[in-house]
Amino acid sequence: MRNLFITKPVHAEPHVVAGEEVTLARSLDWRHLIMLGIGAVIGAGIFVITGTAAAEHAGPAIILSFIFAGIACAFAALCYAELSAMIPVSGSAYSYAYSTLGESVAWFVGWSLVLEYLFAASTVAVGWAGYTLSFLDQFGMHLPNVLRQAPITFKHEDLVLTGAWFNLPAVLIIGAIATLCYRGIKESATVNAFIVALKVLVVLLVVIFGAHYVTPANWHPFIPPNQAPGVYGWSGVFRGASIVFFAYIGFDAVSTAAQEVKNPQRDMPIGILGSLAICTVLYILMAAVLTGMVPFMQLDTAEPVATALAAHPALAWLKTLAELAAIAGLSTVILVMLMGQPRIFYAMATDGLMPKTLGKVHPKFKTPHRATVIVSVIAAVMAAFLPISLLGDVVSMGTLVAFATVSAGVLILRYTQPGLKRSFRVPLAIVICPLGVLSCLALIWIMPVRNWLLLLGWTVIGFVVYFSYGYKHSKLRQAQQS
Ligand code: ALA
Repeated sequence: MRNLFITKPVHAEPHVVAGEEVTLARSLDWRHLIMLGIGAVIGAGIFVITGTAAAEHAGPAIILSFIFAGIACAFAALCYAELSAMIPVSGSAYSYAYSTLGESVAWFVGWSLVLEYLFAASTVAVGWAGYTLSFLDQFGMHLPNVLRQAPITFKHEDLVLTGAWFNLPAVLIIGAIATLCYRGIKESATVNAFIVALKVLVVLLVVIFGAHYVTPANWHPFIPPNQAPGVYGWSGVFRGASIVFFAYIGFDAVSTAAQEVKNPQRDMPIGILGSLAICTVLYILMAAVLTGMVPFMQLDTAEPVATALAAHPALAWLKTLAELAAIAGLSTVILVMLMGQPRIFYAMATDGLMPKTLGKVHPKFKTPHRATVIVSVIAAVMAAFLPISLLGDVVSMGTLVAFATVSAGVLILRYTQPGLKRSFRVPLAIVICPLGVLSCLALIWIMPVRNWLLLLGWTVIGFVVYFSYGYKHSKLRQAQQS
């Protein structure tokens, strides 16, 4: 039993695959990290999901939902900041769990992170396709129906055929972004920074110009009377928080770049906390403006930002810009997710828990190129053939598992290895870390039972893979036994 919980010593520098001289290159600074964080965070959550969450669950109090979800993320972000500065490797929560809670827990976390990164890449690619197709439709450019969506979808919980073959735009965007990720992290970070600048500018324009069209009456009643569990009232606010939690996912992806940062001790905390702080403020402002511009029931669309702007003809110019920003903005979420997942597999492969090929680094581009290709192909296949609702459900579950583990990990390391050099320390860790764990567990608790079952199924598959491969090939175990 103890064998399952062996822990890896905390190394300042990561291991490399035996016989490999080529490793990831340190080329990023805190500015890249903040941009990567914002690139990963602002996406489908605010541009797609917010409207439904407000209309069906929280009403104008979706603002509170954003604040609560933001607070839960802030606890986790502080913990990520401490660990990623102390253990600056590419494996993120997986690597931290390996050093704190042991190998089997690390595997469980690494496997759950696949739900976050890989599934988020596919989910957001499907969202991107939807936005792009409806944008092109306005200009009379129609893609044939058979290439517009997955062959299956959910209707009232039933799986039905759509008559389509596959989602071509989702495959194309993943292919384009995968090519960029293959070419280099610096190139990817630079393209990301340009798009993020546009996305943030447009969000600010929506907030500033939209504010002029806010009717305070739309905020009354601020918390509509409860109608059923999770439908308005305080339970609706909390259900809303569990839904808009998706909008915050991604600031943690910054930690997967830790092995490629020049000065991780200083830059990781700035990148993680800075990007989360900026996004939280933008989200709260955006939620306030959107619910103030139109009665919240009208936001129940797949494009709530465009819907709110469309209600005010004077803002027609901004609507097109917002649609373009959403399309560009969603692409950076895919970019950072497709950067993060291969780096986690890279870390798992260098530990022997995943096949060696995933730990190979391109001699010229210094990227985990094989992992990038494999991850991108899987993401493209899922985006092509699966419906968005199935994909999206599991993303938040995987992320919450990782956040809870990281929060626990900080406290455990404080006691087991108090002497380690910590360039950033979570303030009042004895309070903040348990609050981090509890808030993640609370959000998991609020999720529908279907999500728990998906997580359970995924975990069972993960442990079958672990015992048939990782357990036997673990470098740490082999070293201890020899
Ligand atoms: N936070 C990301 C989004 O909202 C995953 O698209």
